[in-house]
Amino acid sequence: RSTPLYSSAASDVYKRQDDYNADIFIDGEKITQIGKNLEIGADKVIDASNRLVIPGGIDPHTHFDMPFGGTMSADDFESGPRAAAFGGTTCVIDFAIQTKGESTLKGLDTWHEKADGKALIDYAFHMIITDMPDSRLGEMRKLADEGITSYKLFMAYPGVLYVDDGTLYRAFRQAGDNGTRICMHAENGIVIDEIIKEAVADGHTEPKWHGLTRPTRMEAEGVYRSIAIAEVAKVPLYIVHLSCSDALEEVKRARMRGIDVIAETCPQYLFLDKSYYEKEGFEGAKWVMTPALREKWNQDELWQGLKFRDLETIATDHCPFCFKEQKELGLESFTKIPNGAPGVENRMSLIYNGGVVQGRMDLNRFVEVTSTAAAKAFGLFPKKGTIAVGTDADIVIFDPERKETISANNPCTHPMRVDYSAYEGFEVQGFTETVLSRGRVIIENNEQKIEKGGQFVKRALTGSRLD
Ligand code: URP
Ligand code: ZN
Ligand code: ZN
Repeated sequence: RSTPLYSSAASDVYKRQDDYNADIFIDGEKITQIGKNLEIGADKVIDASNRLVIPGGIDPHTHFDMPFGGTMSADDFESGPRAAAFGGTTCVIDFAIQTKGESTLKGLDTWHEKADGKALIDYAFHMIITDMPDSRLGEMRKLADEGITSYKLFMAYPGVLYVDDGTLYRAFRQAGDNGTRICMHAENGIVIDEIIKEAVADGHTEPKWHGLTRPTRMEAEGVYRSIAIAEVAKVPLYIVHLSCSDALEEVKRARMRGIDVIAETCPQYLFLDKSYYEKEGFEGAKWVMTPALREKWNQDELWQGLKFRDLETIATDHCPFCFKEQKELGLESFTKIPNGAPGVENRMSLIYNGGVVQGRMDLNRFVEVTSTAAAKAFGLFPKKGTIAVGTDADIVIFDPERKETISANNPCTHPMRVDYSAYEGFEVQGFTETVLSRGRVIIENNEQKIEKGGQFVKRALTGSRLD
């Protein structure tokens, strides 16, 4: 690599480390040597001069091939992982879903079938739990043995994915006993549904009402409540897609009290705001996602949260629906617009540009929030999330100078199978050039070299199991 690019603005808080010039030798799937001027013969040599060589990104929150909002997310396990790879992500943790009343293990089988043999990069699963009677609690132990060591539960979407507080408590207790982690969609969906009913009764139909009916206080309440339940149930908690200052305050308060809670935010909450809902006609539907986009001032608070580690990871919550035909299901009413937006390919460039180039974080923090922290939170470390001897050779060669304009019309920034970009027209500096997945060169100079070969990754426990 050449000149360090990060500004010192954030590096006064966290010392730089792991930032050096060296050669990396890969044997098969693993890194076997790292050193200056390695004298060793190799079948292939990649010259990474003037580039950054970083651990492949880990996106711990994607929804490929997911039934939601009366349709299916537009990327499946072929197109989604391919798009992720082009953007510098070498591992995703997607969400398998338990059909209400059925076995979670059956849900896992379904997601294995969806993904098997299709993905270009490695993938793992969290399990979405939609009900958990006592008779099924034992399944959670079996899931952990299958490498599913985290579970997502929803306080939002009543009648769909929502579970009540009793279910939360039961699942939290079991997850804690098993040494696993809970992922929480924290929003008071019951109250939000009442607010939605009021808006509908007043005749409101436009996309902007999605945002207007989901107050930040209802996210903060969900964060507070889930932390309280997790504290009593003794389980490590991970708040997904945290969007606003109100919710972040609850995380900070709990962490000050020593509670084991970490939180994720997403590029959409760092770069987009509620003004997108004001776009002409139905256009705002492109950004109908949950939690909704917030007032712009929240973004500074989220960046601060990343700097001081109250926010630990940046995931995409990639859940794409085409504007034509899918988002248009909600032409008559905002309540029918499928919730979710694309972004799996744009994460690394957006965060490098907004974080490192614009001086909000140094290079090490960039690697942490896009890769290492997720690996540590979800039992993938040190196999993934770092460049070290013995680890999987998941490596991204990143051009820190290259500029691109993100657009659905730019094939370099949009291999996703969706007809719009949530970041249309954003100019970014910093772009993925070459990608290795377990030693295989899957993307070279922005060209795909291999079709498939990604594998399911069994994850380790994330807490201490009580046997
Ligand atoms: O709008 C979103 N976030 N859709 C995906 C489902 C979820 O809540 O993560
Ligand atoms: Zn969610
Ligand atoms: Zn999600």
